This record gives sequence, structure tokens and C-alpha cells, in this order.
Amino acid sequence: MKPLRCLVTAGPTREFFDPVRFVSNPSSGRMGFAVAAAAARTGWAVTLVAGPVSLPTPEGVTRVDVTSAAEMFRAVDEAFDGADLLVMSAAVSDYRPKERADHKVKKGELSMTIEMEPTVDILKSVAARKKPGQFVVGFAAETGDVVAYAEGKMRAKNCDMMVANRVGGPTGGFMSEENTVTLLFRDGARREIGPAPKTEIAEEIVAAIRERLQG
Ligand code: CTP
Repeated sequence: MKPLRCLVTAGPTREFFDPVRFVSNPSSGRMGFAVAAAAARTGWAVTLVAGPVSLPTPEGVTRVDVTSAAEMFRAVDEAFDGADLLVMSAAVSDYRPKERADHKVKKGELSMTIEMEPTVDILKSVAARKKPGQFVVGFAAETGDVVAYAEGKMRAKNCDMMVANRVGGPTGGFMSEENTVTLLFRDGARREIGPAPKTEIAEEIVAAIRERLQG
């Protein structure tokens, strides 16, 4: 049997407004890297599209490094049609500076206001052309009303499963080793995981996907 082709994204993106300054978020990439590692251990062929993080490539995983949301979009858009499964755990910047100077902007010329424009919604854009047999997993990072928001995002972004991720607090979050998540499925099924180390959460996420895809 051919191994399942799994595309995972992880980490933040950086949106530069001059060569040395950018807008980003504190995502460590650990959750996505742990999912990629667990997926490879289960025998899937894994491509990991990684934003700028300082993490080693998990064994058996093909890694594509990107910096901005636009670059991540290009990499995911190109690989999506050849994938059976997309796990979109990257913390993509929702906005980017409208302009990027090609030189370091001097303190004096730096305006106190940076005009921003939205980045492409990678997940929504590729999942809109999902074919039968393809399975798409989104993540929803929320500080409150986690499950309700995640449910809405699952539908709006045409996902089969959502990992609702509580950010903030001691066992949730972007930078911590631990996480608490709720898995939501299109048929209404739900499952709570954690608080537990991100490696364990990743194992459970991959096991839940495997159950749905391979029985
Ligand atoms: N996502 C994406 N492209 C973006 C923003 C988000 O692909 N430009 C993906 C994330 O990787 C995640 C899902 O969409 O899998 C939900 O991301 P989240 O930031 O929780 O939701 P948003 O749609 O950005 O909504 P909001 O910021 O209003 O909560």
C-alpha cells in the first residue's frame, strides 16, 4: 500500500517592512513539528512547510523552509493537490505591512503607523478545492469561546477536523511545552486532550486522523 501523503505546516510567518524589521507572533512551531514527527513514525510520507523556527527536522520528514505568509501559501498551494492530508498548524500572520522598504528605514523616517493589508488565508484558499478523499485539518487558537469559534472556522474553511487550541494560561499556548486541545469533527464528534506535552497531543491527533482515514 502506498504511504499516505501528509502535508504539515508549522511555526509563525514573518512579514517584513524593511530588511531588518518584521511583524510576527510567538509561535514556536513545536506543535506542528511534533505532528510531522508523529505522522512520519506512523509510516506516512510527510512534507513539513516550516516558518522561521529553530527546531531540528524530525526523522524521515521532508522540510521546506519559508518566511512569509505569501511564501507559505506558494509552498502549500503547490503541494496540496498531491497530498492526501493537510494539517495546517502554522500560526500564519493575518496581516502584513502594505509596503516593504529595500533599505533599513532610519529612526527619523519611520512613521509611527504601519499600514497593513490582509495576507491570503492559506487554509481557506486550498481547502476550497478539496477533492473527495482529501482530509483537511485546521487549528484554531483562541483565548475564549474556543469550541464555538473553532466550530465556525471548521465550516468557513471547509475543514474535516479542527484542533481547538486554548492560548494563554499555564497549559496552553504558543511558547509552552504543554497544550490543551479539543478535537472537533464535521460529524459533531469531539474529543478533549490534555493538558499534556505537545508530543503526546501530536500522537493523539495523528491517531485520530488515522482512525478516520484508515479505519
Ligand atoms: N490560517 C491560514 N492562513 C491565514 C490565517 C490562518 O491558513 N492567513 C489557518 C491557520 O493555520 C489555522 C486556521 O487558519 O489552521 C485558523 O487560524 P486562526 O488564526 O485561528 O483563525 P483566523 O481565520 O485567522 O481568525 P481569527 O484570527 O479572527 O481568530
